[in-house]
Amino acid sequence: MGAVIRGIGVYYPETVLTNSDIEKIVATTDEWITTRTGIKQRHVLPKGSKLKASDFGAWAAKAALEKAGLTAADIDGIICANINPDKQFPATACFIQAKIGATRAFAFDVTAACAGFVFAANMAALLIDSGQCGNILVIGSEIITPVLDWTDRNTCILFGDAAGAVVFSAGPKERGILLSQLKSDGTRSEVLYLNNPGDDGPRGMFMDGKQVFKAAVTEITEIVKTTVAKGGFALTDLDLLVMHQANVRIIGAVAEKLGLPPEKVIVNVDRFGNTSSASIPLVLHEAESQGRLKPGTLIAMAAVGGGMSWGCNLMRW
Ligand code: UT7
Repeated sequence: MGAVIRGIGVYYPETVLTNSDIEKIVATTDEWITTRTGIKQRHVLPKGSKLKASDFGAWAAKAALEKAGLTAADIDGIICANINPDKQFPATACFIQAKIGATRAFAFDVTAACAGFVFAANMAALLIDSGQCGNILVIGSEIITPVLDWTDRNTCILFGDAAGAVVFSAGPKERGILLSQLKSDGTRSEVLYLNNPGDDGPRGMFMDGKQVFKAAVTEITEIVKTTVAKGGFALTDLDLLVMHQANVRIIGAVAEKLGLPPEKVIVNVDRFGNTSSASIPLVLHEAESQGRLKPGTLIAMAAVGGGMSWGCNLMRW
């Protein structure tokens, strides 16, 4: 069976932090952030809020279920990707299961940082293709800003909080996720990581921005190329590149290397910042709202993140 998208839902907090707001927190400027990253603002959890990733995830999941015309009881499995889970265990997906009342579903988390949604979507496609499941909720839910070091201008300017959820359902083989490729290189784990409170080393997130930038451009370009070729397509057959939103310069460089014109690439990092595993469902939701997902549209979803881990899902709408 094909794993086709039946509904997409998102949630993000109303509170907006602009670059000018960040100028008052660390030594930076709107001009630097805009030119180096393309980010103008990000939605953030209000200070002091007790909300957890499972709250965002449950709201996005409910919106996706409504779009799909399904109820929580129709869901066979929930896979949640995130970098800041509600607790060390149980899985954030279990809290989401309880919050939406998906009593029949199994639930587990995927830890692949910013690439988490692509990894989880691959798992959903396999579970559906095998016949084990009919409907899977794949969720990227990220509350990142409370765990950042707000004295570190290298990282705190980049991220936002949000969740996106997608219902994948069994459908015709020629539609949905056609194939996926996933890769990891643990020898590069030192370039991007989030410490636990009390760990030695940096407070919060560490990122070697330049290394991550280079790896992002190289690995995403390569994995999109090989995934499209493995599917028997040419890059010119791609209608849309739905890429993890970390930096508009990374997105632009990948698009250029793949020979994709700007109209085939969606950018929302300007309004949301980097929302890690939530960024791909946020972009999909935007593409759908703009009427850009039509029957037959060929889409490459691709992301890279800490691990390092990266992947690509090739999908026919
Ligand atoms: O989701 C996956 C994870 N993240 C990413 O994919 C992010 C990948 N990396 C990047 O997007 C970019 O590397 C950054 C946006 C993080 C940084 O851009 P860059 O062009 O690589 O800048 P840089 O780190 O080389 O820093 C250039 C200068 C430095 O000053 P000096 O040493 O040249 O005097 C930094 O100290 O800019 C300085 N700088 C800043 N200045 C103002 C670094 N951060 C800031 C800042 N405001 N926020």
